[in-house]
Amino acid sequence: MKKKDFVSVRNWSASELDEVLNLAVAVKSDPRKYSRKLDGKALAMIFEKPSLRTRVSFDVGIHQLGGFSICLTQAEINLGKREAVSDVAKNLERMVQGIMIRTFNHEIAEEMAEEACIPVINGLTDFSHPCQAIADYLTVFEVKGKIRGVKIAYIGDGNNVAHSLIYGAVRFGAHLSVASPEGYGPHPKVVEWAQQNASETGSKLAVMQNPSEAVEGADVIYTDVWAGMGLESEAAIRKRAFQAYQVNDALVSHAKPDFVFMHCLPAHRGEEVSDSVIDSRHSIVFQQAENRVHAQKSILLALMQ
Ligand code: CP
Ligand code: NVA
Repeated sequence: MKKKDFVSVRNWSASELDEVLNLAVAVKSDPRKYSRKLDGKALAMIFEKPSLRTRVSFDVGIHQLGGFSICLTQAEINLGKREAVSDVAKNLERMVQGIMIRTFNHEIAEEMAEEACIPVINGLTDFSHPCQAIADYLTVFEVKGKIRGVKIAYIGDGNNVAHSLIYGAVRFGAHLSVASPEGYGPHPKVVEWAQQNASETGSKLAVMQNPSEAVEGADVIYTDVWAGMGLESEAAIRKRAFQAYQVNDALVSHAKPDFVFMHCLPAHRGEEVSDSVIDSRHSIVFQQAENRVHAQKSILLALMQ
């Protein structure tokens, strides 16, 4: 039986992503219309890393669609050690109708998707965070009225969030400038793929080291932590490397006057972003966080109906 997964933004076409975004808009504006669409369906949520937004938005989201979730932490299933990923997949597919997985190694999420005959959703890996990107572009669409041609500056670590943002920029037609310190840019294979596929939607991707140059004329400024989950031991060395990459009043002065500030959260205030920016009228980080619920619901509907 053919089934669909959401492991990477890149695996979905521009029209599939447009559809999921439009559905998220519809779900947000009329949630009651969708309240029984996943009646009685169960979503297993595997968390090998901490989470606030992903955990709560999937849990609330599936409930609001008539289904329910089961949370499985590493302490409970010890994925790959207590039991092989493929065996976990083959058990879960007989008991639940969907799997969301947050794990370290991206290949684990891919393996789960390959092995399970039910939809698998990537709830963040070291390599990507596709559900975040759907909520992010939904938020850009809400505040800017379009995505195509919107200029986004991503400042900081070329990490999982940056990778999904890059894939999304290509699919949705945004212009993205990424500024990172030397050695901390996005993965070359992501950049290469984006540059090869950008013409599909007229998207432009620029990768650089100068944060002011990236922010010049930006509609959206986006940042994320300097040391993500699993990189805690590198925190001190990264803090030094990223010193000039804080999104603060001086840096945002290069953006358009009506720029918005975005962050996937959690934020390390005083590191990648100053309080003056994250608490300013430009900041839409909590609207962005709320949109995780609407985006998640749309993804669940697209895969589990
Ligand atoms: N943005 C995000 O995924 O947040 P959590 O890590 O809290 O789920
Ligand atoms: N880049 C961050 C994102 C958290 C949602 C991390 O991986 O920890």
